[in-house]
Amino acid sequence: MTNSLAFARHGDKENSAFFEEYLEQILQERDRLGLTDLIHEIDALMITVDPDHSVEYIAELCLMTPYHYLVSLESESHWTHILRIDLDSPDLIVREVKDPNVRGIFRSLNEIYPVGSQKPNSRYMGEVIRVSNKQAVEEIQRAREFRFFNQHDIRNLELPANLAISKPSPYTHNIVGYLERKVTDLRVYALGISSIRSDIQSAYEKAKETQEKLGIDDLILPIDHLATRVYSQNREVAILEYLSLSSYHFWGAYNIKDQNSSTNVTKSVHPIPESKSPAKVFTANNTPYFVNHLEKLPSPTETFVRNYGPRLHHMALAVKDGERDGVENIDFVVNSIAEQGKGFLLDVIGSKEQGLKQIFSNASEHSSLIIEYVQRFGDFNGFFTKENVAALTEAAGVEEGVQTQDF
Ligand SMILES: [Fe+2]
Repeated sequence: MTNSLAFARHGDKENSAFFEEYLEQILQERDRLGLTDLIHEIDALMITVDPDHSVEYIAELCLMTPYHYLVSLESESHWTHILRIDLDSPDLIVREVKDPNVRGIFRSLNEIYPVGSQKPNSRYMGEVIRVSNKQAVEEIQRAREFRFFNQHDIRNLELPANLAISKPSPYTHNIVGYLERKVTDLRVYALGISSIRSDIQSAYEKAKETQEKLGIDDLILPIDHLATRVYSQNREVAILEYLSLSSYHFWGAYNIKDQNSSTNVTKSVHPIPESKSPAKVFTANNTPYFVNHLEKLPSPTETFVRNYGPRLHHMALAVKDGERDGVENIDFVVNSIAEQGKGFLLDVIGSKEQGLKQIFSNASEHSSLIIEYVQRFGDFNGFFTKENVAALTEAAGVEEGVQTQDF
């Protein structure tokens, strides 16, 4: 039996007695019930975009990431496109609403937020996690008071019928889907009619030709981590809830004092690399927005959440360690992509001496998600450096949707 508490803790962010007590209880119970061993890696990430945005978004993803276009699934009111690297890293499921007038639960999650509502169907939805027994996992989770969509809901939502899907989290607004699959089986999504769409196929081929021409096609690696932003008061509960739904452990948390924020990292307990199951990071302000004027504190994280709603903020892709044409790979990748007209929120930060270099792209106009590139050097065994996180957090605070405070 896996022991989810047998991992070293990192970081300097202090947690409440409540958090420490329930972290232990939740992980012990998860192990004892067998859930930790029934729940495996992240198998897919689900993203939704507004009508007519998926072709361009897929072109953007195929240029900026190692993903390939695989197939499209058509159902009555949605297109669902599957992007894949291989079976050793999660798929991307990009779902497009066909009719701008379609209303649904995921749209509602955007609508009460001033910036989120401007692109009502654009948001990260959540992860699909591979399990050995979907029915057993759903039953155990229901007994722990997690709520799931029923089969009728899943059909109406036009989500794959072979998934068990949780209701959106009150803290992150993300869902978790469980997909039963043996590691040797293919990944299959039971939804609609499948076809290769010629417009997407040609946008995909063009993006891959560009990647190859730029010489970056072998430098961008799978997703390293996913970073979710939540309200300050939801930091601990969002982490504990995710640990309850997954087989992740609490790696540790760092206080990013200058940005009045903390970075909280969870990783799989299973002995698999991040490229197979990305780390899940939670970021939250240290103090709620209404004390900022008293304490004179910056607040980029909470301002983001107030404008967009709690949600995934960025997907970080690893960049292969090494140099190309005399510059470090991350600089080579960023310069090449910038030449194609893609913007970045800051310059590449960090150094080989510090162990890693990182950068944030502009938020995608299609999904609102930022892409982070991260290159780790040699045997750097930290996950990040505080200096880099402070600079990235500050840069994310000048992103257009965060700057807009006039609501
Ligand atoms: Fe990050």
